[in-house]
Amino acid sequence: MKARNPEAAPVPENLLAEYRFAEPIYVTSPSLVPLDEYTKLLEKIWEGRRLANNGPFHRELERRLGERLDAEHLSLFCNGTIALLVALQALRIDGGEVITTPFTFPATAHVLYWNNVRPVFCDIDPVSFNMDPDRIEELIGPETKAILPVHVYGTPCDVDRIQAIAERHGLAVVYDAAHAFGVRYRGKSLVTHGDLSVLSFHATKLFTTAEGGALIAKSGAQKQRIDFLKNFGIADEETVIGPGINGKMNELQAAYGLLQLDTVDEEIANRRKVAETYREELAELAGIQMTSDVPDVEHNYAYFPILVDADLYGRTRNELYDCLKAFNVHARKYFYPLCSSYPTYASLPSARPANLPVAGRVADQVLCLPIFGSLGTDAVRTVSAIVRELARTG
Ligand SMILES: Cc1ncc(COP(=O)(O)O)c(C=O)c1O
Repeated sequence: MKARNPEAAPVPENLLAEYRFAEPIYVTSPSLVPLDEYTKLLEKIWEGRRLANNGPFHRELERRLGERLDAEHLSLFCNGTIALLVALQALRIDGGEVITTPFTFPATAHVLYWNNVRPVFCDIDPVSFNMDPDRIEELIGPETKAILPVHVYGTPCDVDRIQAIAERHGLAVVYDAAHAFGVRYRGKSLVTHGDLSVLSFHATKLFTTAEGGALIAKSGAQKQRIDFLKNFGIADEETVIGPGINGKMNELQAAYGLLQLDTVDEEIANRRKVAETYREELAELAGIQMTSDVPDVEHNYAYFPILVDADLYGRTRNELYDCLKAFNVHARKYFYPLCSSYPTYASLPSARPANLPVAGRVADQVLCLPIFGSLGTDAVRTVSAIVRELARTG
């Protein structure tokens, strides 16, 4: 997109004087566990001298997360990227093509590349920002092995239609559910859809273990294979069943995760208030499109994306991003640029911008505003007031 020069539209000094934050407001801020309680768990680790390899905290976190997410066969990981890499290996997808979305974090496309798979980019839906199910079948060819959709911002993909397409064509479905912790759709935990789902517990995520992730399998046998693969393929001291990798979560992270679980529902409730406040404050602001809650979905409010229509709002997304920075508000352009435009993928036929018109427009217009549980209502009102005041309508 053409970024207009923000210098051409300087932020008025009186607005800066009124609304500029003294401390930076980032797009997110991790919910920190109580330090004294964490210290107690660390003391237990010190007593047991067990730092890694399926220790007691690891086992307890797998069990408790499984309960929280209705995911009986959940395997913890050191991060979501390695979990995605292992998901494909677990399904023996190490060549051919996989259909995925260009509107995502780099990891989604890169795990395909690392598994020797060619990504085939599918355009997205303009409302959900997820892979458009109407566009999937035309991309299926003789080399297609699987579909790798992303529940972008935690909004559920059209899981029924994707499943029907996959079954019609004998394809696997691996969900990148990195954003979707705790989301339920029609009363069912979202991560139970597809053949496998992957969560990220990175520090920027709603539920975090600093770095971390999980892979949700459908059966005990599949989890067993995944557990071997994440531990170098080691089955026992003298048996290495295959070319595994090191994807293990350690005890310090697992202990942190146990304490996070105690407060994650409160975090979601607080984020919900933030989202509701933005929706009230920015309602009917010309040129700013927000997402709405979807019927039958229990959202997690992991992100708060807006789309900026420069013609109506009077500034481009890039101008708004730059202006917000002047107020010490650090919004993020998730997800710009599209994965399909990275040099690694740009020459693929499916990566042509003409094939991805919706993704291209959304990537050029999207901006994620700050959202996290400890962002007070006053701060949300101030960020909203800045967005309103910066509008150059009429
Ligand atoms: C959609 C998506 N997929 C995958 C990842 C990778 O997860 P991790 O950072 O835990 O490796 C992230 C974020 O970090 C993400 O946003």
